[in-house]
Amino acid sequence: SIVRRSSTAGASYVSRRGFASGSAPERKVAVLGAAGGIGQPLSLLMKLNPLVSSLSLYDIAGTPGVAADVSHINTRSEVVGFAGEEQLGKALEGADIVIIPAGVPRKPGMTRDDLFNINAGIVKSLCTAIAKYCPNALVNMISNPVNSTVPIAAEVFKKAGTYDEKKLFGVTMLDVVRAKTFYAGKAKVNVAEVNLPVVGGHAGITILPLFSQATPKANLSNEEIVALTKRTQDGGTEVVEAKAGKGSATLSMAYAGAIFADACLKGLNGVPDVVECAFVQSNVTELPFFASKVRLGKNGVEEVLGLGPLNDYEKQGLEALKPELLSSIEKGIKFAKEN
Ligand code: NAD
Ligand code: LMR
Repeated sequence: SIVRRSSTAGASYVSRRGFASGSAPERKVAVLGAAGGIGQPLSLLMKLNPLVSSLSLYDIAGTPGVAADVSHINTRSEVVGFAGEEQLGKALEGADIVIIPAGVPRKPGMTRDDLFNINAGIVKSLCTAIAKYCPNALVNMISNPVNSTVPIAAEVFKKAGTYDEKKLFGVTMLDVVRAKTFYAGKAKVNVAEVNLPVVGGHAGITILPLFSQATPKANLSNEEIVALTKRTQDGGTEVVEAKAGKGSATLSMAYAGAIFADACLKGLNGVPDVVECAFVQSNVTELPFFASKVRLGKNGVEEVLGLGPLNDYEKQGLEALKPELLSSIEKGIKFAKEN
């Protein structure tokens, strides 16, 4: 199917040695928070992507070292590191895509919303700079709580007069990556062939995997589907607890972020039928932002796709997630309006 095609194509560049820059257009990708737990492996994976010609690595500190290290890899892109706010403008200028994994991660016992007080301000200041230095860039928001940081970004861009709803994405790809892995394990099917959408948002019950639409089909029991759903919803917490105070998912997130950015690059380059799930401005439900399948194109979002058929369990999950997701969205909007 369409989703599988773009996903597997996205994964394949990681193992490809060298690259054929051929006719691929120049593309600048900026990573904000590039010295962090996600930022470093994500920078590595973006350095391996032959669609990138310029890789800009920004953090408040530590990026000269990360950039020097990554820059020695013999692939297409030129790598430059930028450290400190006075260099943020240069890091962003001319960017086609800005990926944001800047901010604090969870520790055991915390919810993603517990990160709001610190990360909301970080996201707001980074988005203010994006509006100034690269207002046309696609923004891939990884910083949590995604359900609130995406609405914050939208408000910042609206205030600056640069908001384009087609260019703002909350990265929910890790939920899809997890759902595919867990489903393949239970269904005993080839994980590389698995495809399914994950919709809603990116926190707890707002993460709604649609296993009824999973392919290849498998005859899983209701109990197995409930267990798979819960494991997907709690996937982040599973990693937070296993890391026992040392942070949250970084390596699987870097992979998911690199796959999603690759899909965005392909869309920008005019590759047809690139479809991935992301948290975007949406009319799919009554909520102003919602994650669903999105067709990516030359201007970012080309089409927000509908949910497709849901079974009763998924319909219940959809209704149950709406109040929490709406309140996280409203919290983000309120913060951006008041600060
Ligand atoms: P980390 O602490 O290892 O790294 C964060 C980096 O951000 C640090 O290098 C820090 O210096 C930098 N930073 C802080 N303020 C900044 C600013 N104003 N400008 C630029 N950089 C700044 O954390 P991490 O494990 O990499 O996680 C980062 C964020 O990603 C967290 O909020 C985490 O919850 C989130 N996350 C999201 C997903 C997802 O699926 N969307 C998955 C995993 C983690
Ligand atoms: C994840 O899903 O792994 C991230 O959102 C990090 C977290 O806090 O769980």
